[in-house]
Amino acid sequence: MADSLLASAERPAPASAIERALDLLEPPPSEVDLADGYLDLLGRRDPTGGHPGQRLMLSRALPLVYQRFWRPTGARLLMGLTGPDTGEEHRMALGMLSIEPGDRVLDVACGPGNFTRDFAAVASEGLLVGLDASASMLEVAVRETGDENAVYVRGDASALPFRDASFDAVCCFAALYLIEEPLRALSEIVRVLAPGGRVALLSSCNRGPLPARLSNALVHRLSGVRVFGRDELTGALAEAGMTGIEQRVAGLAQFISARKPG
Ligand SMILES: C[S@@+](CC[C@H](N)C(=O)[O-])C[C@H]1O[C@@H](n2cnc3c(N)ncnc32)[C@H](O)[C@@H]1O
Repeated sequence: MADSLLASAERPAPASAIERALDLLEPPPSEVDLADGYLDLLGRRDPTGGHPGQRLMLSRALPLVYQRFWRPTGARLLMGLTGPDTGEEHRMALGMLSIEPGDRVLDVACGPGNFTRDFAAVASEGLLVGLDASASMLEVAVRETGDENAVYVRGDASALPFRDASFDAVCCFAALYLIEEPLRALSEIVRVLAPGGRVALLSSCNRGPLPARLSNALVHRLSGVRVFGRDELTGALAEAGMTGIEQRVAGLAQFISARKPG
């Protein structure tokens, strides 16, 4: 009994989530700023674009109403009345990512952590990293996340601060259409996926009579939201070597899943 107590006392404590996340960073940060409860890798830098729709994500007010009102209403507008509701969206994300308990999972543009917390519950022995550029979104994420395996990083989706092949699954929901350089973000997502890793995306999809280029010019100018052609994101994933690409279109939205060969 005494021997086993001694053995456990001498055993090194398991690495904390933040230590495990720091191990994945490339390049390693010159200083670790955790003052606000998340790892801030941007400091004064702001990769969010200048359109009012993009700036809104940085406001203090939006994160407070985002999960209860903004996100469900936005999803309804985008996907229509027959599209998946919030609960189904969460089930779809989990289904597309096939998360195992020990997996390392990245939630790109995680907002207030509304999906990150789901993933953290499933990857109970793994690691969850939620990354976003908005300090006010991350403040809510930190406040509402109790999972010890989850950490939040303030970083740029288009220049992910992680080593190649760091994650078993990467989610990017409701964000590619707001990110200034979405195709760069997509190639970063593929880069940080480990062989055999899964990706789940939710973004916009052109459905109307207008060609995507025209719809995009119009909608982007009015709202800051980018409209992707029906094959634009799936095509980019195929070009990046991803396999098993599946697309489900719902209203003006598309869900995409794919796997990195491995
Ligand atoms: C509509 S929210 C999506 C939140 C969550 N994924 C969801 O499905 O509800 C979009 C998020 O993208 C983030 N974002 C926009 N551009 C970004 C960038 N370049 N890098 C990181 N996050 C970015 C915004 O700060 C915002 O929190």
